[in-house]
Amino acid sequence: MMPQPIYPFRTPKVIWAAPGAVAKLAPEARRLGGTHVLLITDRGLMATGAPQRVANLLTAEGLTCTIYGEVMAEPSAESLDPVVTLVQNEKANLIVGLGGGSAIDVAKASALLGANGGTAYDYFGTDRVPKPGIPVIAIPTTAGTGAEATPNAIFTNTKTQVKEGIISPYMMPEVAIIDAELTLTVPARVTAATGMDALTHAIESYTSVKATPTTDLYAAEAIRLIGRSIRTAVFRGADLAARSDMALGSLYAGISICNAGTGAVHAMAYPLGGQFHVPHGIANATLLPYVLAYNIQGNVEKFANVARLLGEPVDGLSALEGAETAVAAVSRLCCDLSIPSHMSVFDVKAEDIRAMAEFAHATRRLMDNNPRNLSVDEVEAIYRAAL
Ligand SMILES: [Fe+2]
Repeated sequence: MMPQPIYPFRTPKVIWAAPGAVAKLAPEARRLGGTHVLLITDRGLMATGAPQRVANLLTAEGLTCTIYGEVMAEPSAESLDPVVTLVQNEKANLIVGLGGGSAIDVAKASALLGANGGTAYDYFGTDRVPKPGIPVIAIPTTAGTGAEATPNAIFTNTKTQVKEGIISPYMMPEVAIIDAELTLTVPARVTAATGMDALTHAIESYTSVKATPTTDLYAAEAIRLIGRSIRTAVFRGADLAARSDMALGSLYAGISICNAGTGAVHAMAYPLGGQFHVPHGIANATLLPYVLAYNIQGNVEKFANVARLLGEPVDGLSALEGAETAVAAVSRLCCDLSIPSHMSVFDVKAEDIRAMAEFAHATRRLMDNNPRNLSVDEVEAIYRAAL
């Protein structure tokens, strides 16, 4: 056996995860020395009044809090610039990211840029940020991207229309507050898309070549929690038990990808997001069954376990039959959640596919984690099957 590489295991320093946990915001803000807080959120959430209520938790304790509520979905690199200016002008010493992955990514990146200067373009890539940023408390309101537990933030490079990541250990939030009560009113289609993103994180990291016994604990439990509750969360959104499973599953999946990474599904979803503006969770979910059907050969035992964790009856089946059951279970789930089963829905044409395959294949940061080695022709074949 070849010596295995040794990987670190990182999480936010403090995690509060329970319904009502947002009440811990002000004490955590004080502990981190926050006096001037910038709360970063998105337009959709502003309309619900939630950011104002969260800001009130801080001002009631004597902290000042400015709200920036202009984050857009799938943010561009340039969209960070006004936020960074605000961080610097307000002399913010604590950033709170409240919302989905976009708001939390903008919060994490603007905290780094506020301290380091420059623009996102200066830091795209891995380990290119010289020093820590302003501390960040992340409060997800979807379940979810897991952005509260990952050291990266993704933005569209508007010069190339490609999504790129700033990846740095300094990007990890100091504190994550996971409060399922904040997710009770998320619309069904967003619950489905973000929930499938979290399930994709869990399955890709569970079967990643960088998976460790520690990441497996989180990934396996995420698959189990999301598998048993995603339908209820989508179709009966006020069910707090289902929302709690999804919130915790999303966190665990985030912790797992932070340390074991994602694979071909995410690499192949990038062109769908960048060029065709397909929401991240939908792009992943559409591709997931097709990539899994290919990937099971790379780790049959683990994919059979995925089926077991999803509640499928696998006793008496061979490992390969179990792994095939996992693919069928994910396909059925996508169908139940009305996820598009073909990329033609997004206006992808046959002539687009070769370039998409070359781009996805070149995303080695993710492709190198994939349980099965994929040539560019194989990536193309998967895209063609999904067309
Ligand atoms: Fe994702």
